[in-house]
Amino acid sequence: MKKRTKMFIGLAVAAIFMVVMLQGAFAQKKAPESMMLKLEGGKLPPVPFSHPVHTEKAKTDCVVCHHKDKDPKQPGGCMPCHDLKEAKNGAVPIKEAYHKNCITCHKEASAKGVNAPTKCNDCHKKQ
Ligand code: HEC
Ligand code: HEC
Ligand code: HEC
Ligand code: HEC
Repeated sequence: MKKRTKMFIGLAVAAIFMVVMLQGAFAQKKAPESMMLKLEGGKLPPVPFSHPVHTEKAKTDCVVCHHKDKDPKQPGGCMPCHDLKEAKNGAVPIKEAYHKNCITCHKEASAKGVNAPTKCNDCHKKQ
């Protein structure tokens, strides 16, 4: 191979590598669209949760709920910090964390006339 061709290939490979790295750096982890939230050992029906309803329709930023992640655009779940049973490192148990997060905002929304579930059975809905 000619020296020039080798250099060209080298540069092309470097360019592709850069593009892949940059995409990794800026990509937002995709939020699951619809989930059923159910805690281990829970007795009530699971609670449906839709990301698009919250992030698109209600225009809520990721960080409002994913409030402690190092990068709120690449969040994990709540349970690494909020334990199933007890308060850990100042973080309330997961049931309280969910209730405070979900119900507080739904009450505020309802007060403004937006229909968001606030009653037990509206979230813990029998299917
Ligand atoms: C805005 C939605 C919402 C409302 C309203 C709500 N919850 Fe929950 N609750 C959740 C979520 C989310 C969880 C965690 C997922 C799960 O296990 O259901 C949870 C978990 C629980 C759990 C622990 C899991 C289980 O199934 O035993 C109990 C008990 C509970 N809620 C009781 C209640 C009661 C009683 C009310 C009414 C006073 C209520 N919740 C209202 C969202 C809600
Ligand atoms: C209204 C609250 C709320 C908002 C806003 C929100 N999320 Fe979530 N997200 C949740 C809940 C609740 C879960 C389930 C957590 C669990 O299973 O521990 C979750 C789970 C996730 C997961 C799966 C995490 C895992 O590893 O289990 C990803 C990824 C995610 N969300 C990304 C996002 C992104 C990106 C945004 C902003 C565009 C966003 N979320 C906005 C509440 C929210
Ligand atoms: C990296 C750890 C971490 C993660 C992940 C995390 N939290 Fe928290 N959370 C905490 C800590 C620590 C606190 C204690 C108060 C504070 O410093 O804000 C807290 C407090 C809260 C509170 C306020 C409780 C109160 O009594 O006022 C709510 C609500 C809450 N978290 C909900 C969530 C939800 C919902 C998720 C997942 C979508 C989540 N948290 C993920 C660490 C975490
Ligand atoms: C920051 C505010 C906010 C938080 C936090 C929030 N919600 Fe909501 N939620 C809303 C609003 C606003 C609506 C009504 C959207 C509409 O229809 O315009 C809604 C609607 C809903 C609905 C009915 C629509 C549907 O998806 O079927 C469910 C169920 C729901 N939320 C579950 C939850 C759960 C579970 C949590 C906690 C993990 C939560 N929400 C946290 C603001 C919030």
